[in-house]
Amino acid sequence: MVSRSLNSSGTHRICNWWIAYTFDNPLRRLIHNPPKVLGSYVKAGMTVMDLGCGMGHFSIGMARLVGNTGRVIAVDLQQKMLDVMERRVRRAGLADRILPHRCQAEDIGIMEPVDFILAFWMVHEVPDQNKFFNQLKLLLGAAGRMLIVEPKMHVTAADLERTLAIAQSCGLQWIEKPAIRLSHSALLVPIAGT
Ligand SMILES: C[S@@+](CC[C@H](N)C(=O)[O-])C[C@H]1O[C@@H](n2cnc3c(N)ncnc32)[C@H](O)[C@@H]1O
Repeated sequence: MVSRSLNSSGTHRICNWWIAYTFDNPLRRLIHNPPKVLGSYVKAGMTVMDLGCGMGHFSIGMARLVGNTGRVIAVDLQQKMLDVMERRVRRAGLADRILPHRCQAEDIGIMEPVDFILAFWMVHEVPDQNKFFNQLKLLLGAAGRMLIVEPKMHVTAADLERTLAIAQSCGLQWIEKPAIRLSHSALLVPIAGT
């Protein structure tokens, strides 16, 4: 029921769509409140990306933060996740500002520059983190920011440090480690001149 893939730091599993219901439910707002987690980074009018959006808990939250002049690109490799996300987005009346995009495991397939990227509980599922961060660096340009949040249940602090070292080798450095429940996190910015 769970598909496995390997990346540079060990064995990884892609979160199955039905597993997502165990953590992405109405109670989640109590521990992962989107304005609280993202309010300092996501502002009205921005174009932002929810990478590995799953069922869209944060895509919907970001759509409210960017307002009707902004846009959320909600990216996942599983069509089933995107289907559930789109249903929720329609119910929330936010379909006009969320663009769903199905990607490949090693190719995001988006060239458009973005102001902010969220990768919530997904980086440990990525098969080639080098390729991944190189693509994201291009999307962020010189002034974009990216928030990585990894689940303590699957990812140790040392695992996150390895990921941050890969990001740094691709031109993205961490500047802050915000406290987010059940998670290790880091805010990344492009390294000037890279
Ligand atoms: C644990 S879920 C988290 C979903 C969502 N970010 C949240 O916090 O509710 C991880 C998601 O990342 C997606 N994913 C895994 N590898 C990916 C990749 N290489 N590119 C895009 N999405 C990916 C999975 O399909 C799954 O929907």
